[in-house]
Amino acid sequence: MTPVVTTVAEVRAAVDAARRAGKTVGLVPTMGALHAGHASLIRAAAAGSGFVVVSVFVNPTQFGPTEDFARYPRTLDADRLLCADAGAHLVFAPPVAEMYPERSVTFVEVTELDRELDGPARPGHFRGVCTVVLKLFHVVRPDAAHFGAKDFQQARIVRQMVRDLNVPVDVRVEPTVREADGLAMSSRNRYLTPAERAVAPGIHRALQNIAARARAGEADVSVLESELAAELAAIPGARVDYARVLDADLLRPLGRLDRPAVAAVAVFLGTTRLIDNLVI
Ligand code: PAJ
Repeated sequence: MTPVVTTVAEVRAAVDAARRAGKTVGLVPTMGALHAGHASLIRAAAAGSGFVVVSVFVNPTQFGPTEDFARYPRTLDADRLLCADAGAHLVFAPPVAEMYPERSVTFVEVTELDRELDGPARPGHFRGVCTVVLKLFHVVRPDAAHFGAKDFQQARIVRQMVRDLNVPVDVRVEPTVREADGLAMSSRNRYLTPAERAVAPGIHRALQNIAARARAGEADVSVLESELAAELAAIPGARVDYARVLDADLLRPLGRLDRPAVAAVAVFLGTTRLIDNLVI
C-alpha cells in the first residue's frame, strides 16, 4: 500500500524531501474510487517524475446541492493498493477541513470555457474544480500534473487556468481508458444496476457512429448533434442531459466541421450521470 498523509504540512515535507533527493514531482489529482483510468494517469506520472503524489479528495465545492457528494464511493484502502501497483509514492488524502479551513472564501473561475456542456449543466462545478486543483498545485508544487481526456472540458479548463495564472506546472492529458465493451471507466460506473451496465456501452457506440458519419463527409453540426441525441435517447432507460458537437479548442458551438471538434455527451442511466466524449 502506498503511504498516506492527511495534512498539508506532511505532504509538503515529503515533497521537499523528494526534491532534496533530486527527484521531480508528478501529481495526479483524484477523488478516489480509483480504477484503470486513474492507474494510467499514475503510470504516466511515474514515467515522467521520480516522485508521484496521488491526491484522493472528494471535493465538496464541485458538487451541486442535489448531486452525489454524500454517496460518492470512498475506498481508500483499495485506492492505496492500486496506487502502489501503478507506481505512486505518496497518497494525500486530506479531510475537508484541511483543504477548506473555516472561512475559506476565495474561489477560482475560468470564464468562457464553461459556457457549454457541464458549465450550465452543473452550475459552480468548474469553479469548485479550479479552486481545488489550484490549491493542490500550491500544496504539492508539482513539476507535472496529469489529467484524463475523459473529462475533456475539465482538462481544457485546467490548462487555461494554468496558462492564465502563470502556474509553473506542466499539464499532461492522457487518453480515456475504456472497458472492453467501450464504456469509459468511471468511479460512477459502480452505481449502475446490471441492466444499466448492460446498455451503457451504447454511449460510446453513439459517439463512434457520429465520428464515422463525420469521416464519411457529414459536416453539418446540427445534423450530427441530432443524430447523436437520437441514438443516445434510444438507449433503454437513458435520459440525455446534453449531446453536443463543439469547437474542441473554444468549447463553443460551430456550424460546420471545418476545424477540430469534440462530440461530448452527458447521459443519465437511472440516477447515474455518465459523461463521455470523442474528438472528431
Ligand atoms: P476523478 O473523477 O476522480 O478523476 C481524476 C482524474 O482521472 C481526472 O483527470 C479524470 O479525467 C481522470 N479519469 C477518470 N476516468 C478516466 C478514464 N476512464 N480514462 C482516463 N482518465 C480518467 O476529475 C476529478 O476526479 C476531479 O474533478 C478532480 C480533478 C480530482 C478535482 O477534484
